[in-house]
Amino acid sequence: MLNFTYSNKTIIHFGDKQIAKLTKAIDKKRKVLLAYGGGSIKNNGIYQQICDALKEHNVVEFSGIEPNPSYETTMKAVELVKEQGVDFILAVGGGSVIDGCKFIAAAAKFEGEPWDILAKNAPVKSAVPIGVVLTLPATGSESNSYAVVSKLATKDKFAFGSPYVHPEFAILDPMVMSTLPERQLTNGIVDAFVHVMEQYLTFNVNGKVQDRFSEGLLLTLIEEGPKVFNEVNDDVRANVMWSATMALNGLIGSGVPQDWATHGIGHEITALYGLDHAQTLAIILPRMMWEMRTEKQDKLIQYASRVWDINEGSNEERIKLAIEKTEQFFQAVKMKTRFSEYQLGEEVVDTLITQLERHGQTAMGEAQAVTLERSKTIIANSL
Ligand code: NZQ
Ligand code: ZN
Repeated sequence: MLNFTYSNKTIIHFGDKQIAKLTKAIDKKRKVLLAYGGGSIKNNGIYQQICDALKEHNVVEFSGIEPNPSYETTMKAVELVKEQGVDFILAVGGGSVIDGCKFIAAAAKFEGEPWDILAKNAPVKSAVPIGVVLTLPATGSESNSYAVVSKLATKDKFAFGSPYVHPEFAILDPMVMSTLPERQLTNGIVDAFVHVMEQYLTFNVNGKVQDRFSEGLLLTLIEEGPKVFNEVNDDVRANVMWSATMALNGLIGSGVPQDWATHGIGHEITALYGLDHAQTLAIILPRMMWEMRTEKQDKLIQYASRVWDINEGSNEERIKLAIEKTEQFFQAVKMKTRFSEYQLGEEVVDTLITQLERHGQTAMGEAQAVTLERSKTIIANSL
């Protein structure tokens, strides 16, 4: 196992009616920015529950943080935070709102051009504290230090990470999933699944705890994921929601190598063609697994056996079948897995490669083995 330092400061309030905990979770002396997205929270009762919980707090609102939050929109909130002297940000939404708020929190305290935090890895030295009410289980952003923000003007989608933007608390009420459109349920399950794969499917360092945790999360998503569309009960939602948080809260990735090449290509697809984040991952991951099958052989065989119960045949046959099963799982949760299903064709290959090159993504993955040439093969095989 590799050396690691692990901490996760987010206090999780999980379950039915937990939104009421906001009253005590945020100090009344703080001036709160209540930030949300396109308004779904006004149609499903979440907004009202928040207003009830914060009726004695000093609150200003900012709405309109869009899916794949933009620098352009979030900078408007930065102005508001500065003008109003906001000293706590409550993010209410999915990954986009949470990530947008992380950037707002860091940018409001940043000296210089905040885009540099994303484009040049400029160090974040402080941030406005953040709390979260999660409305879409998917990204794990509610209890991690990362955020992904796009600049519309240049079609750049970049990530940054800082302990200063790690949420202080997160409220996870699985009932919020009852109003999620099917497309977002699908996205959440696939994103969580791929997060586990990015930290699990690398090379073996004998991180047995991490491996078994990861396999448990994958099996839970495979078992419960398809159920969220029909025989839904509270436990199905709870298990999917908790899996998504656990998939990217730092635990399973500690002490093991991490990949993230599928995400690297995926972010470029979203930036250029507007596909949802998880849609891009479902297209790329199966072909990434196949292209990297030699480097990842031990883990692929382990994945085939422990997750899909594939124990016979040559190594190549087992790997092929495990990849097929993975793609079938995506399809079982109503996800498309090819560019052509989004009316995208060969034209994407060179455009994406140019964009990857422009962003220096020329040696991705746990062993920096995903070169531009191999990315090209992966993308071309995913049409
Ligand atoms: O804007 P609102 O009204 O909130 O509607 C949203 C949005 O249209 C809607 N929605 C959310 N909760 C709902 C709901 N509709 C009805 N009922 C509810 N309870 O769903 C739509 C999509 O929301 P979004 O936040 O964009 O989805 P998701 O959580 O999948 O987040 C995706 C973003 O997170 C980034 C992605 O790149 C993308 O920008 N990621 C963040 C990561 C992180 N911070 O660690 C890691 C991930 O790999 C990912 O990159
Ligand atoms: Zn993701």
